[in-house]
Amino acid sequence: MKLVVGVSGASGAPYAKRLLDFLSSEGAAHGVEADLVFTATGKQVWMQEIGAEPRYPFPIWKNHDFTAPFASGSAPYDAMCVVPCSAGQLSRIAYGLSVDLVGRAADVMLKEKRRLVLCLRETPLSLVHARAITAAIEAGAVVMPASPSFYSQPRDTGELVDTVVSRLLDRLGLPNALMRRWEGLTPRRNVEPEDA
Ligand SMILES: Cc1cc2nc3c(=O)[nH]c(=O)nc-3n(C[C@H](O)[C@H](O)[C@H](O)COP(=O)(O)O)c2cc1C
Repeated sequence: MKLVVGVSGASGAPYAKRLLDFLSSEGAAHGVEADLVFTATGKQVWMQEIGAEPRYPFPIWKNHDFTAPFASGSAPYDAMCVVPCSAGQLSRIAYGLSVDLVGRAADVMLKEKRRLVLCLRETPLSLVHARAITAAIEAGAVVMPASPSFYSQPRDTGELVDTVVSRLLDRLGLPNALMRRWEGLTPRRNVEPEDA
């Protein structure tokens, strides 16, 4: 699988870091080749939240470099995710404003009917955001809010981050064991005290 990872300027760089760490260590085993693009604010927020330069064995493209192969539909890329995805970036993608490489690559994914997963991080949402989310979904994107879950009983922020990244990897079709999966309650524990 050839995958584009876009990192935009929303809070949530740890999600991107965890995904990139996973792809560095286990991606090859899954046949994944990744390309990476940071928006200017994406890089800024990464430095604020991670505190160290991103160092990965993937090509890192400049966000104004439209000569990247995945800026063209003729290049055989399979999927893209934007993580974290700012509300501004999601809106630009939803309305086809290919003003930067992240936006153009996402535009290509949509027009070529390829997989595009947008890990939106913004709260609260305005009607503008809600309409852009609808437009993005209608165009074929998966909008996956970066909203961690607690039912796997994460013990620290790392495991909380994994609850988002695991589901993101699921959407990209990449098997992973980053979080404990829900297996249901046992029938006995399901019984309410008054029914026992
Ligand atoms: C520290 C910091 C945190 C931010 N967090 C968010 C956020 O969580 N969600 C969001 O939509 N925008 C957030 N922003 C604002 C975006 O970075 C801004 O709208 C920017 O234009 C997004 O551009 P990009 O998508 O090209 O990175 C944040 C900005 C900074 C500096």
